[in-house]
Amino acid sequence: MAKNKNNQPIWGTRIKKSSSNIFKKVGSSLEVDKRLFNEDIVASTAHVEMLFKQKIINFKIKNKIIWGLNRIKNEIIKKKFPYDRNLEDIHMNIEKRLTDLIGEDAGFIHTARSRNDQVITDFKIWLKKSTNDTIKNLNNLINTILKVADKNIKTVMPGFTHLKNAQAVSFAHYLMAYVEMFNRDKKRFKNNLESLNENPLGVAALTGTTFNIDRNYTTKKLKFVRPTNNSIDTVSDRDFVIDFLYACSTCSIHISRIAEEFIIWNSDGYQLINLNDKIVTGSSIMPQKKNPDPLEYLRGKTGSSFGNLFSMLTILKGLPLSYFKDLQDDKELVFKSYDQLKISLNLLNDILKNFTVNKKNMLELAKTGFITATDLADYMVRELNYPFRKSYLQTAKIINLAEKNNKSLDQLTLDEIKTIEPKLTNDVLKIFDLNFSVNSKSSFGGTSFGNIKKMIRSYKKSNEK
Ligand code: ARG
Repeated sequence: MAKNKNNQPIWGTRIKKSSSNIFKKVGSSLEVDKRLFNEDIVASTAHVEMLFKQKIINFKIKNKIIWGLNRIKNEIIKKKFPYDRNLEDIHMNIEKRLTDLIGEDAGFIHTARSRNDQVITDFKIWLKKSTNDTIKNLNNLINTILKVADKNIKTVMPGFTHLKNAQAVSFAHYLMAYVEMFNRDKKRFKNNLESLNENPLGVAALTGTTFNIDRNYTTKKLKFVRPTNNSIDTVSDRDFVIDFLYACSTCSIHISRIAEEFIIWNSDGYQLINLNDKIVTGSSIMPQKKNPDPLEYLRGKTGSSFGNLFSMLTILKGLPLSYFKDLQDDKELVFKSYDQLKISLNLLNDILKNFTVNKKNMLELAKTGFITATDLADYMVRELNYPFRKSYLQTAKIINLAEKNNKSLDQLTLDEIKTIEPKLTNDVLKIFDLNFSVNSKSSFGGTSFGNIKKMIRSYKKSNEK
């Protein structure tokens, strides 16, 4: 058996010179994959239990290895583990320490496996947990949005297209649009669990193994759902990494979009919301300033999330099968995206708990820009039986008149309106009421108060689960 001599890599007998100093430094993934120590120990334990069950190793050796692994786990938790920077990664570090603790029998641990399957197994176990954590953070955020929405069902504001006033909406409806987005994010993360639930352990370097292993056993032990089908694909596949990074990126887009909306609404030009002092920063020269830095931070961080996804896509493009060192970067990219997303979700949650809505300003803004124009056109279709195109035209003329007279639609008298459309009666005036406008959009998914109430209630229920 190859000896794992001190300060010498496992391949020291074959490769007689030690790596160039610069490569020793940059080629190591230890600082990054240290984070997988627990997953590595859990997976190794399942592996040796399987080897024992299959009579590939004996009872004594199995117990010795498991004893050693437990001890190593404690050493790492208590920060007493002697990391050896000359060994490439956490996996080699643990194996080397196991050899120091129990001697040559430690070498049985690597029977019927390679670091290639070992690394992905650890990584998938970590990703499953982190996916579930992310979903929890998304749930917290959604709950906060639901609470704010619940308080603002009757808060009327203009909905925009092209950032121009378009039609009246409830602020709650606006916020509920983000609940949809974050719910889709949850789904995206959940969908990836299907791939994450395939167990790579046992495909070894790339072809499988000559030993009579039981991959279903480790699948069960490690709470995967099924073993992967093709050994070559298994060690080369990082689709589950791309899917995770993509889910992080899409979620970052949503965070960035709401951040941007809030920045605009908080601006002096809009003044639709007020950020309280907990979530603004000052200026070093302009004493009056209260700047929305946390929101800008969120918008800015989207860039690094895209960057990580693009790095992974680029690494995989044109990479022949199967394992290559290029793949080592996958963990750093995922850890960075995951950590950032966690911070961003929690920060956004905090921001949403620390702002106030300027209901009056929202309403005032909604009174500008003739935002009940579509309602008027719809009204003429309904009441005068006009084709929509005809009532659109009549409405445009009424708006021109209002604009010429420097009035909003609700300030026009019936007589003025009748100069354009004589068939209209007093009844039409209700159309210009903003609450009436919002509430009349009662088609499924529309902004009527009743619709929103129902949606909030149903999301509150489903999010409790
Ligand atoms: N440190 C490597 C990584 O994290 C371990 C994979 C080793 N496999 C190999 N064939 N060199 O990807």
